[in-house]
Amino acid sequence: MDINKDNKVGESKGALERQLYFIEKCREYIKNITEEIGRPLYACVQTFGCQMNARDSEKLLGILKEIGYQETDKEEEADFVLYNTCTVRENANLRVYGRLGQLRNVKKKNPYMLIAMCGCMMQEPDVVEKIRKSYKFVDVIFGTFNIFQLAELMYNRFTSGSQVIDIWDNTKEVVEELPTSRKYPFKSGVNIMYGCNNFCTYCIVPYVRGREKSREPKEIVREIEKLVSDGVKEVMLLGQNVNSYGKTLDYEFTFAQLLGEIAKIEGLERIRFMTPHPKDLSDELIYAIRDNSKVCNHIHLPLQSGSSRLLKLMNRNYTKEQYLSLVDKIRKEIPDISITTDIIVGFPGETEEDFQDTLDVVRTAKYDSAYTFIYSKRTGTPAAKMENQVPEDIVKDRFNRLLETVSQVSHSHIKRYEGKELDVLVEDVDDHDASYVTGRMTNNILVHFKADRSVIGKVVKVHLDECKGFYYMGTIV
Ligand code: 5AD
Ligand code: SF4
Repeated sequence: MDINKDNKVGESKGALERQLYFIEKCREYIKNITEEIGRPLYACVQTFGCQMNARDSEKLLGILKEIGYQETDKEEEADFVLYNTCTVRENANLRVYGRLGQLRNVKKKNPYMLIAMCGCMMQEPDVVEKIRKSYKFVDVIFGTFNIFQLAELMYNRFTSGSQVIDIWDNTKEVVEELPTSRKYPFKSGVNIMYGCNNFCTYCIVPYVRGREKSREPKEIVREIEKLVSDGVKEVMLLGQNVNSYGKTLDYEFTFAQLLGEIAKIEGLERIRFMTPHPKDLSDELIYAIRDNSKVCNHIHLPLQSGSSRLLKLMNRNYTKEQYLSLVDKIRKEIPDISITTDIIVGFPGETEEDFQDTLDVVRTAKYDSAYTFIYSKRTGTPAAKMENQVPEDIVKDRFNRLLETVSQVSHSHIKRYEGKELDVLVEDVDDHDASYVTGRMTNNILVHFKADRSVIGKVVKVHLDECKGFYYMGTIV
């Protein structure tokens, strides 16, 4: 099957066997070193960026463990360090270069240490050129399309002794069935589609993640069934624009239908998804969220800007009014739903009036929380060539005013749950006090309460005692 031509993601059996072969070869190699030096080898995977990358990292760590590495979160004690990078904003890139510089010194002290880089940054030719020239100590470089080849690339490095670079520019084939190592035993991300066709003018994602391709529903359901039999209670369905799920399949199949199929899986308790696009969010999807008790009470609906003029320049395909009427419709059908968003300030040409429109939407839409970003110029995107880039001091001032408005609005809105008793999936011991645990309600809001770690991974009822801004303090009932 020609996967590129079909524009849907299928799995190739030959490719899976090939990777299993290289995993075995690497395992022998690592076993020999382990015996030679008399200690286990450690691997550390560092993830930058979004949930898509977090899921990729679980797959990468799964392969590394299969090869024989033990996991560590400390780079300085690792024999294999892998940076899974993000390039959505320039800051993300700068952080990677900074960390890489420090790693050079760590590597000098450990003759067995290997450094690998993958992810979105590696899909930019300038970045790869810079690493090839100025960071020669990096051993393996690959991109977003061939993460499943990790073992093969490592084996090439082991046998050649020189830097291995392999970047693909689209999805030629995908191997989904390799071992993964989940961060949480009870929840998991699941890729339902890859790539993006939206081309928002500020965004680099379509260039580094390629064209949109949907996975077959049967393969997705099979993967989730397997996860559930392995203890997973909550899945996060991942795609750059889940509304267009199914468009590249040979038959009619919508995202709402996919939710329906996944909801039938016995033992699965919660379904989340990320991210829908406001331009084509269907009524069918709103009803699927409303009518399906397993689909969580939360929708992340990126606004980006409240100004219709800027939204047009951003190529978002909706106006301020259309966005607000969508929010209205969602709230009418699902009154208790939690709505969150992403907002960019300082897009080229943004005026005070445009910015006031953004503040107006924040106040009217009543978000439970918002991720706020300063516009970052990404080379190769249409917005990078736009005139009227906004001066830094003006952007910073708007950013601060936006943060203030977001926190005022969301604090008073989130308070509406106070006094209620809601189901909480317990995720972890509390960071600040080990006699507390932290969990998530279906509305995605965190709650901290006193309990021992035996409740981790379970759904429990919690009374929401007090709203503390973005989170709650509660009592288990
Ligand atoms: N500058 C700032 N923020 C950006 N985002 C995407 N591209 C840029 C950029 N060039 C933000 C958007 C998106 C989120 C994942 O990152 O808000 O929804
Ligand atoms: Fe995720 Fe985009 Fe960053 Fe890639 S560039 S990690 S897709 S946010």
